[in-house]
Amino acid sequence: MAMKITVIGLGYLGTTHAVAMAKVGHQVIGIEPNQSRIDSLVQGKAGFFEPGLDQELKAQLATGRLRFRQAHDESSREADIHFICVGTPQTAGSMAADTSYLESAIRDLAPFLREDALVVGKSTVPVGTAAKLTAQLSTAMGFTSPNLAWNPEFLREGTALEDSLNPDRLVVGVTNSRSEALLRAVFDPMIKAGVPFLVTDLATAELVKAAANAFLATKISFINAMAEIAEVSGADATQLAKAIGYDERIGNKFLRNGVGFGGGCLPKDIRALIARAEELGVGESVSYLNEIDKINLRRRDRVIALLTQELVSLQGKRVLILGAAFKPDSDDVRDSPALGIALLAKAAGAEVVVHDPIALHGVALKHPELELEQDLAKAFVGADAVVLATEWKEYRELDPKTVNPGNKFIIDGRNVLDVAQWQQAGFKVLALGRTISN
Ligand code: UDX
Repeated sequence: MAMKITVIGLGYLGTTHAVAMAKVGHQVIGIEPNQSRIDSLVQGKAGFFEPGLDQELKAQLATGRLRFRQAHDESSREADIHFICVGTPQTAGSMAADTSYLESAIRDLAPFLREDALVVGKSTVPVGTAAKLTAQLSTAMGFTSPNLAWNPEFLREGTALEDSLNPDRLVVGVTNSRSEALLRAVFDPMIKAGVPFLVTDLATAELVKAAANAFLATKISFINAMAEIAEVSGADATQLAKAIGYDERIGNKFLRNGVGFGGGCLPKDIRALIARAEELGVGESVSYLNEIDKINLRRRDRVIALLTQELVSLQGKRVLILGAAFKPDSDDVRDSPALGIALLAKAAGAEVVVHDPIALHGVALKHPELELEQDLAKAFVGADAVVLATEWKEYRELDPKTVNPGNKFIIDGRNVLDVAQWQQAGFKVLALGRTISN
């Protein structure tokens, strides 16, 4: 049954959710205070790179089921469900998540909220936030028990739309059966397709997301810790990952060692979990996540150490960083290991040039000190060292015979290159987590 919904906050999560909800047949109003984002969305442009999203956005605009507004108006009052998808970035100078955008979203929505409508938070939040927002809503509305639920989103950048339409599970934290019924109705097509639907309390739903991301970060840092041991013992962390991954209890996913994790979620979410656990007096329970963070950041230093080992000093050396995005098929450079390495090399005195197929626009704004080159062949010219930091297809499939750096030396930061092929083309190849004989 088609429902009327609003989606508040049209960033990565909100835009994808709004499009997915329209695609399954609901009438969606997207609310976004930033007019220039709306101008872009109404033209069918999400404003960030996500495979297939612009196309589906255009298709849903054409159905008339998807509309955008800069602020709530009377049409919001007709909605049965309001999904809140605003950002919860890391607070400056602290590890905690900043939940102020959620508070403003609730404040702006309150005058247009029907008593029987449901507010659903999708943003990643510290456990306990939903209870606080319920209290805020209750004060603003004068209802004793406003309907507020939590439905964490697990989408990955690069496969966001597919992850929203076919999630591996739906988790809803609710406080009453009416909220559950509304959520079952809005997700009915997914539930009918067999997606597991888990009903929990608010705190569990909030914690599920933090826990999932902490576990994923732990898996990556675990293999990167093994990589550190492999590097000093002559073992090979990529073979190690393959071997332990055959054990079904361990599994082979998220065990790729390399320059580590980045992006808008994993780094900030583990830090927010540490901060929240400390506030709750159980900081020790997740203090190991501090090590997970440190192992991750140390991988960037390892690349600088390998560069220095080869070039003796980075002063005045031209270093090409292949990749700026935190992962391929994304133009997101938030907490990107590739950019982190570029900045460390720059700080060590290198002349740094960064190539990325699509993410350079975000770098230009934030880091004018870095030289950016869109043309891959040109980027190699004169390089004393090359670091593959993001495993874009362009780099994995690059024929090393077609590029001419000043010095044929490359570090494979993601363990994706055909080492023999690069060596045959005259390159010295080093990688993370294994020793390569050159
Ligand atoms: C993540 C979660 O996967 C997703 O469920 C959640 O909703 C948001 O956070 P995303 O940030 O899109 O998604 O990226 P993800 O695919 O998880 O990769 C995170 C980082 O880990 C990337 O920098 C990636 O390069 C790195 N990574 C991933 C590794 O270094 N090794 C691996 O084995 C896997």
